[in-house]
Amino acid sequence: MASYSFNTLDPATEARVAELLGQMTLTEKIGQLNQISPLVFTPPDPSQGVDARPTFSMRQDLDDEIRAGRIGSIFNTREASFVNRCQRLAVEGSRLGIPLLVGGDVIHGFRTIFPIPLALAATWDPDLVERTARAAAEEASATGVDWIFAPMVDIARDPRWGRIAEGAGEDVYLGCVMAAAQVRGFQSQGLASGRAVAACPKHFVAYGAAEAGRDYNTVDISERALREIYLPPFKAAFDAGAGSTMSAFNEIAGVPASANPLTLTTILREEWAWPGLVVSDYESVRELIPHGFAADLKDAGRLALSAGVDMDMMGMAYLNHLADLVAEGALPLAAIDEAVRRVLRLKFRLGLFEQPYVDESVAAQVTLTEGQRALALEAAQASLVLLKNQGSLLPLKPGAQRLAVIGPLAESRHDLLGCWSLFGEEGDVESVMDGLRAYLGDTAPAPIAGCPLRGDGDFEAEAAVAAAEAADIVVLVVGEGQDLSGEAHCRTQLGLPGRQQALVDAVAATGKPLVVVLLTGRPLVIPELAEQATALLLAWHGGIRTGRAIADALFGAIAPAGRLTASWPRHQGQIPLYYAHKNTGRPARGAGTGQFVEFFRSAYLDAPNTPLFPFGYGLTYTQFAYRDLALDATTLGPADTLTARVTISNIGERAGVEIVQLYVRDLVGSVTRPVRELKGFARVALEPGESRRVTLTVPVADLAYVGADLQRRVEPGGFELWLGPDALSGLETDFNVMA
Ligand code: BGC
Repeated sequence: MASYSFNTLDPATEARVAELLGQMTLTEKIGQLNQISPLVFTPPDPSQGVDARPTFSMRQDLDDEIRAGRIGSIFNTREASFVNRCQRLAVEGSRLGIPLLVGGDVIHGFRTIFPIPLALAATWDPDLVERTARAAAEEASATGVDWIFAPMVDIARDPRWGRIAEGAGEDVYLGCVMAAAQVRGFQSQGLASGRAVAACPKHFVAYGAAEAGRDYNTVDISERALREIYLPPFKAAFDAGAGSTMSAFNEIAGVPASANPLTLTTILREEWAWPGLVVSDYESVRELIPHGFAADLKDAGRLALSAGVDMDMMGMAYLNHLADLVAEGALPLAAIDEAVRRVLRLKFRLGLFEQPYVDESVAAQVTLTEGQRALALEAAQASLVLLKNQGSLLPLKPGAQRLAVIGPLAESRHDLLGCWSLFGEEGDVESVMDGLRAYLGDTAPAPIAGCPLRGDGDFEAEAAVAAAEAADIVVLVVGEGQDLSGEAHCRTQLGLPGRQQALVDAVAATGKPLVVVLLTGRPLVIPELAEQATALLLAWHGGIRTGRAIADALFGAIAPAGRLTASWPRHQGQIPLYYAHKNTGRPARGAGTGQFVEFFRSAYLDAPNTPLFPFGYGLTYTQFAYRDLALDATTLGPADTLTARVTISNIGERAGVEIVQLYVRDLVGSVTRPVRELKGFARVALEPGESRRVTLTVPVADLAYVGADLQRRVEPGGFELWLGPDALSGLETDFNVMA
């Protein structure tokens, strides 16, 4: 599908921007740089217990501020009628009639909630991910949203960090593929509202590298790592046409990302010549004060604007202080003009001056339609990852075995929405029990919670054990609630929360086969559970159709085919854990030299270095065999393309999808290289007994990396290559790149 690019400068738009800018007073200009949420957020009251939710109330001064031209953008609105009302105040009530940009956190769906982004990435299906983004844009734009604060493209290698849920996982290559797919989807043309939507990849940059996985925490990484790991998904999003980004909360090597001249000016503007709009994160300009970087709000405004943050989200630094800063000569007017130009450019490019209002009848036609619900089911199915299936216990035969259903998530709807599902509604969600009932009708067993989702509360192991004993197979539905992942929801203990593991222990002691359905917003640390489970199906927080998708997989209507995009540790002490690590001088396994390597290894005394489940891993209801790996050429020049071929056979009894993954290792570099790096993948659907010769290609240019001098280049030398089902296995060969 065709999508908009907001990164090309067109002379007609530039002329309109210049003309409008010429009519604006300084106050009106500054108003364009101010973004506010009409809703005032009140955090949950802790005295109300763990189930307390935040509340929102309407700002009282909104109308006056819009009319006065003191607001350039609003965000997180729900209704078309409300947006139209605000737009009318701006267009008809303010002196210059400049429409508002209307932002929204549409992270994995608007009303139709899809699986969390980490789960969507596990589909390894950029086309499907693009379609979910388009569907989300369809619903959001019908309510007047024209600027989506997504995709979240932060590489995350620490599952303690709650926001790992919002991104594509640990890998740079896959992160780029998923970032571009979402941008194309959000910015696709032909939405029913007749409007355009701009994506806002975030959080610029390196937010996912927060020390110890604690949200907002310090990031202190080399500029080389910044360029090699954290920046590429942003570049991919911009190349796909994203014309805005959001500056992050974290600091980078001592300089906060929301006032960072290196990332915001040198890289974005000078090196990438990117003409887009930078909005701060929520109060991240104001937070330059507690960072210890700005003396006060005025100083914060000066630092952020001069570094390249164009719009201040909720910080009030720009609105309250930019005029004084200009009057005092602390900021040149030209810097304000440039920021305003970027805001106006996006407003013109979105067509807001021509069509500020949205047709209020469209939302009902495009929201939560059968098509949207079908897509949510397809996405929930495709994101399922089968982590274990001993003795091919799955799929089950509906009605043939007596089931017991146990666990605190069996009937939950709310939790399946996952984090950042602002406009999702619990009533739209199919629980796991709803899914099972679709197959078993009245014969579906009554579920037993067994224990609360977290905390100590009522522990009913006896009832659970009795039910397990009376059954042939136990379906255990366990994991994290919705409120354990997402922003500011970080954990140090990544096992099953509360007493769930004790419940599993009690049920496992019955010796009955256990089908564990795991619902979570992040990789968990579950070595015991993985051992106890006969089958382990990872279903994430899979959105409104999670329950149905799970039942479809349990009863074999579909076969799970997702693959992990973040490593699952065996122990918390292994974190951060990712497959693309360095070899070190004393590697734990594989090639090492010298007398010390037997005894002094880069390893733990009490655990292996390997994850419980590696990046790329996932089973399905059949098996695949790889053979005859061959390269068309084993010596390549810098302008060549590597072509690798392998034969994949479905050697099981059911149709299935294999994700063939291509990894390389650059053996010697002027900067050391990871032991493996993903450089491509292919989806291969095969019938039982079918074989196919599969071809993957990698331009040699894609083997480039950022050298010590911070320049990207391909270095000549030897490479290893693997084609396989995950980051720890596969057939291996090698090739050489010549200068
Ligand atoms: C989050 C952003 C989000 C913004 C606006 C912040 O707290 O970090 O991801 O877009 O709020 O809601």
